[in-house]
Amino acid sequence: MPKKKLYIETYGCQMNFSDSEIVVSIMNDGGYEVTTKAAEADVIFVNTCSIREKAEQRVWKRLKELKSHKKHNPDLIIGVLGCMAERLKQQLLEEEKAVDMIVGPDAYRKLPELISNTEHGQKAINVILSTDETYAELSPVRYDSNGVTAFISIMRGCENFCAYCVVPFVRGKERSRDPQSISSEAHELFEQGYREVTLLGQNVNSYHWENNGSMVNFATLLKQVALLNPRLRVRFATSHPKDLSDELLEVMAGHDNICKAIHLPVQSGSNRILERMNRSYTREWYLDRIAAIRKYMPDCAISTDIIAGFCTETEEDHRESISIMEEVAYDYAFMFKYSERPNTIAEKKYKDDVPENTKSQRLQEIIELQQRLSLESNQRDLGKTFEVLVECPSKKSIHHLSGRNSQNKVIVFPKGNNKPGDYVNVKVLDCTSATLIGEAE
Ligand code: SAH
Ligand code: SF4
Ligand code: F3S
Repeated sequence: MPKKKLYIETYGCQMNFSDSEIVVSIMNDGGYEVTTKAAEADVIFVNTCSIREKAEQRVWKRLKELKSHKKHNPDLIIGVLGCMAERLKQQLLEEEKAVDMIVGPDAYRKLPELISNTEHGQKAINVILSTDETYAELSPVRYDSNGVTAFISIMRGCENFCAYCVVPFVRGKERSRDPQSISSEAHELFEQGYREVTLLGQNVNSYHWENNGSMVNFATLLKQVALLNPRLRVRFATSHPKDLSDELLEVMAGHDNICKAIHLPVQSGSNRILERMNRSYTREWYLDRIAAIRKYMPDCAISTDIIAGFCTETEEDHRESISIMEEVAYDYAFMFKYSERPNTIAEKKYKDDVPENTKSQRLQEIIELQQRLSLESNQRDLGKTFEVLVECPSKKSIHHLSGRNSQNKVIVFPKGNNKPGDYVNVKVLDCTSATLIGEAE
């Protein structure tokens, strides 16, 4: 029997992309194969994000476009998966009648069953959050992969309840995955030719597994994965400053294949705002963690997330965000305007009182500063040689390859006899704020 076709589109964070690989694995078992053409699909899934209002608007717009495929295929099933499904539940159906299924992030095992429930035109919904689902034993299908780098989910959920954030409400309780299943997945990937894994979680360094009296924390897990093979690089994201232990830094420093890059979202440089955000650290604590990173690994890249215009943020608070960026001299940053999310702590407790144009101005200043910091960071690498893991041909030229160094910086260089999956020593000769440009040694 010819297989049915699934078209899937993913929005949001790496966790969501990793979840889509789990979804495809479950759907394969249910008799579906992936297509890259929405027009020939029997089922269309949109795996959604709720983190900012704009992320949701993008999905609404996309759903309007995708439903046009129902005109030539009346049996087409459209499913909304992920965080928006979890946040809006039934309400989503009222806004977009073309949607047939609504499935939250902990209910993907039920997908084939839910599809059969829609066969006679009924709607199917499952948005039950779980306290223990980690999809541990499933083999994610890397359907959109370069064959070199892969993500491995090691935990799900978040209970930090940062005041601005919707994640704890849409992803449920924090739970960690069996370390044995993580190591075997990494090992299998290596056997298939992959050379880099990124361990993923909303709060990856609070990973914690207990079984029969034995305990595995994130530092131990990271070491286990790093010891699988020296030619397998290991990265991780995202770390919360409160859980960045010296033990973890020591493990990172002690293994060459653990990449020297830490993503450590600061969110704001002002203690008053950090407290309102419920981030549970101060500027001083954060800077102490930065000093610890530099002590253990002077060559470690540091990147961040930062929010402009959180409730009550004054010009003075904003200046503190600017000054902490300068002080840390981030290599890279994701920068956002505060977007109020329904039912979060901030929405209930505070007024979204920073005017839109002030938010925009502050964000613009933050972006311009980061552009300078990124350029300066890249300029410091001129003349240095890095081991680069080649990922793919460069986007701009087929005669060049693109890969990353341990610090997670993209390096482009003339191809020679190298190919994706190779480790190549590349000397940096030139740069922009986004890319290093070099030559194989
Ligand atoms: N778990 C990770 C990241 C979560 S979402 C962490 O704790 O760091 C990614 C980033 O989106 C956050 O770090 C934050 O900077 C941003 N973000 C989250 N909620 C937001 C909101 N309501 N408005 C603007 N930015 C937000
Ligand atoms: Fe959101 Fe905070 Fe959890 Fe990150 S740690 S997902 S910002 S609540
Ligand atoms: Fe978005 Fe959900 Fe990730 S809200 S950022 S897709 S956890």
